Amino acid sequence: MQKRIFLSAVALAAASLVTSVQAQDTFKIGLILPMTGPFASTGKQIEAAARLYMAQNGSTVAGKKVELILKDDTAAPDVTKRLAQELVVNDKVNVLAGFGLTPLALSTAPIATQSKTPLVVMAAATSSITQASPYVIRTSFALPQAAVALGDWAPKANIKRVVSLVTDYGPGIDAEKYFKDRFTFNGGQVVETLRVPMRNPDFAPFLQKVRDLKPDALYVFVPSGAGTALMKQFAERGLDKAGIRLIGTGDVTDDDILNGMGDVALGVVTSHHYSASHKSALNQKFVEAFQKANNNLRPNFMAVGGYDGMRVIYEALKATKGQGGGEALLNAMKGQIFESPRGPMFIDAQTRDVVHNIYIRKVEKVNGQLYNTEFEEIKDVKDPGKTK
Ligand code: PHB
Repeated sequence: MQKRIFLSAVALAAASLVTSVQAQDTFKIGLILPMTGPFASTGKQIEAAARLYMAQNGSTVAGKKVELILKDDTAAPDVTKRLAQELVVNDKVNVLAGFGLTPLALSTAPIATQSKTPLVVMAAATSSITQASPYVIRTSFALPQAAVALGDWAPKANIKRVVSLVTDYGPGIDAEKYFKDRFTFNGGQVVETLRVPMRNPDFAPFLQKVRDLKPDALYVFVPSGAGTALMKQFAERGLDKAGIRLIGTGDVTDDDILNGMGDVALGVVTSHHYSASHKSALNQKFVEAFQKANNNLRPNFMAVGGYDGMRVIYEALKATKGQGGGEALLNAMKGQIFESPRGPMFIDAQTRDVVHNIYIRKVEKVNGQLYNTEFEEIKDVKDPGKTK
């Protein structure tokens, strides 16, 4: 009896030793994404991109086994926060990543600060997110980067009177303000600013108003996934026939749904940091590999934010040789410069935000498929929303 107890105690000690050695040898990334609900396309794209990055770069880095722990927050901020708390306390993750929408990133930022865990924002794009915690690093984009570029382009294209229509929350407010300020500075006029609710948006009454106002162009921001509904109602209300041009940040002509929008999308001009038709060898390789692994699904800018986020995490892990805590990891994420499928990319060490090119693109048919063809490039754009 004594011997049995002794033996099982030894077994228990050995087992816990194995677990702790395993924990030490594992590097955990808690990936929180909306995998269900209206923003599930964002989750699907980012998960696919993260898995592609791991398949291409191996899952052992600096002697550690990289483990991706995926959680579905259903796009509810309180759920994101609770999941992050559990991932930090129970799973002891080294990094928190994902964050499909601004409110989801903002609700979780305090957890990153308290636990000194780097939080890699792969999707959300309101300017202020990077200021919500010193542990936030962003690999997606900031709305003002795209909005300002379009505010410079539009007057040159003979667009003088514009109605602005945005989804009514953080990124929409940024898109509205930064476009309006720059466009007005350049001599343009925003005759009306319209804001559409984020949940279950019905664009029709707003578009009727736009039709009555007869601007040269309608400028829009809608979050990734909502572009199809807007484009459909734009055509149904006859705005295209009335000669009103559609311009916006590139979220509206999102690559994964663009082809399904049909010819009404032809000629729509947008500003953004990524197009699946970006001409570079690296992007071509990325798009081919992504489509091959995902039933021919076209990667969108969300996928690129996820892919580059994994790159930033992997390189930080390499640089710290798997040693050091959250602070060391965070420092190794700052200042990274590399080529992304979007083009050159830089994580500004001061702001922890992404600096990249913004492209002006036009929807065109290429080999029977709709693409955002880049025709102008603004180099190394910092977020104009940052005061420091
Ligand atoms: C955001 O919530 O920050 C967000 C979501 C989708 C976008 C852009 C921004 O396309």
